[in-house]
Amino acid sequence: MSGNIRADWRERRQAAGKTMKVKDAVARMGTYDPPLAARKDQDALLLDFNESTLPPAPEVIEALQRFLQDGNLQRYPTHPALLERLAEYAQARTGQLILCNGSDQSLEIIIRAVLEPGDEMVQARPGFAMIPQFAEVLGAVVVSPAYREDMSFPCEEVLAAVTPRTRLIVLINPNNPTGTAIAPRQIETILKTHPDIPMLVDEAYYEFTGETAVPMLARHGNLAITRTFSKAFALAGLRLGYVISNEQFIQELHKVRGPFDVNILAVKAAEAVLAHSGSWRKYIDEVMNRAKPMVERFFDEHSVTYFRGAANFMLVRPDDRDAACEYLRENRILVRPQSPPIGDTFRLSVGTVADMTRFMEVYSGYLASREGGARQA
Ligand SMILES: Cc1ncc(COP(=O)(O)O)c(C=O)c1O
Repeated sequence: MSGNIRADWRERRQAAGKTMKVKDAVARMGTYDPPLAARKDQDALLLDFNESTLPPAPEVIEALQRFLQDGNLQRYPTHPALLERLAEYAQARTGQLILCNGSDQSLEIIIRAVLEPGDEMVQARPGFAMIPQFAEVLGAVVVSPAYREDMSFPCEEVLAAVTPRTRLIVLINPNNPTGTAIAPRQIETILKTHPDIPMLVDEAYYEFTGETAVPMLARHGNLAITRTFSKAFALAGLRLGYVISNEQFIQELHKVRGPFDVNILAVKAAEAVLAHSGSWRKYIDEVMNRAKPMVERFFDEHSVTYFRGAANFMLVRPDDRDAACEYLRENRILVRPQSPPIGDTFRLSVGTVADMTRFMEVYSGYLASREGGARQA
């Protein structure tokens, strides 16, 4: 080895051994690492991420195909027509809306717009894990009162957790992963009690409940609501979400997000989704009025513990969480095991009647395989 080559090799080895230094707030954090590996099985029934189990309507696919043939992929995306349609759908003015790259980005820009390092954010736990992650990256402190034993919203505890350092209160309605709803009067009470603290209400599952805090925007200047096209609208892969708030706050959010963060295929698909509401309304009706009651009845009959929620998913507490999830996985059904303090539960997304009939058949096999069957908790 010549001297030059050796020096070059030594430099490269040293570089490989070094890591890029990240800021302390990031180094301290854990990773949000959703279990995606098992999803390689294309034929598995995916009840693990609260997605729609059906694809979007044919009209949505046709709109995308038409755009790919005749549209202008070479241009940066704009979305005035979608904003008009969305304003009508959301019962808001266009200036009260900002489109984002999924709800994830909606949540992130709100958090980036309001929180400084050291500020406190109150969010009950368990809740959607990305939200604390966005806050912690900024060096903010997440204060997390626990949901009650019956998974109802801990309104008094949230109010009690507010301190002079609180700069954001986050409510997820209905909550993921508990599925439980927050009563409108509880939201209003928190808004009224702390009119100077921004409040974020995450309504990712709004379409399944029909309950919204939008009318409260007229009464409270400290409210921002996030929604998504990922769940009822079956567009999770295209990444589209939006914020509804007052015009001034939306203007501030425009400073935090890039002008082209929402891609044009998401825009075209969303226009078609809103124009063809028949198929997603039918899906919601099937999930909420037929499939979910059917699974609840099944669990009741077999004394399987679950929590009654308002969304297209439910939290289930089997006799042996790991055995139940493993049995389901072996039978090609994926559900989402939860972490402590609810590590004895899994979250089950509810799909069509056919999906849930398959789930119940497999789960009956699991129950039969357990000596003594299921237990009543
Ligand atoms: C409560 C909640 N908020 C936000 C999201 C993120 O949705 P999106 O796909 O729009 O980023 C999810 C996704 O599971 C969620 O459950």
